[in-house]
Amino acid sequence: MKIFIDTANIEEIRKTAELGILDGVTTNPSLIAKEGRDLKQVISEICSIVDGPISAEVISLDAEDMVKEAKELSKLHKNVVIKIPICEEGLKAVNILSKEGIKTNVTLIFSAQQALLAAKSGASFVSPFIGRVDDIGNGGLEIVRDISDIFNIYGLETQIIAASIRNPMHVLECAKVGCDVVTVPYKVIMQMIKHPLTDIGIKKFLQDYKKSNKRI
Ligand code: E4P
Repeated sequence: MKIFIDTANIEEIRKTAELGILDGVTTNPSLIAKEGRDLKQVISEICSIVDGPISAEVISLDAEDMVKEAKELSKLHKNVVIKIPICEEGLKAVNILSKEGIKTNVTLIFSAQQALLAAKSGASFVSPFIGRVDDIGNGGLEIVRDISDIFNIYGLETQIIAASIRNPMHVLECAKVGCDVVTVPYKVIMQMIKHPLTDIGIKKFLQDYKKSNKRI
């Protein structure tokens, strides 16, 4: 399973890239706004750090403008993937872009039916949002499982990026259902590294080593 980071923060991306675990990056307009920087500058900088798919989202609401925006963004770097929300205009744009060889990530997916349509219109990736579904008391992982089953049955090549990840358990469950990619916030990546028994183990090893050094 590939691991992307879900952030537009350069520091977080750099630190995670140094760990050798990073396969790509996803951003969205909220994450870009949080950094208070220009979208194109941020995306170019991310592309210079990570060699993998980098999702940049369009903000237009009609297909023609989405396509225009997508073409501008895809000029930034060969790894740029255009993130487009699932809706009628979005699917039209995905259909046009896929025929022109521009990769797309269809986002804000909350049902397997939406994912199926996005795949059929030529999406390279679909992003089901697990956490936001859990937040309203439904099962986000069920949707990912359904999408995975459907794509397998019909041999659809669209990759699933599990998004809106809130905790390490989400990542584990996504790995178990065979997700292609999981896009994880920096905080959750850090939580995944940690285990209280590891901390206790490191402390104990050091204490024992220091004790024996004193004896020698
Ligand atoms: C997906 O690509 C989105 O950027 C992201 O995962 C949304 O997560 P949120 O629900 O934490 O905003």
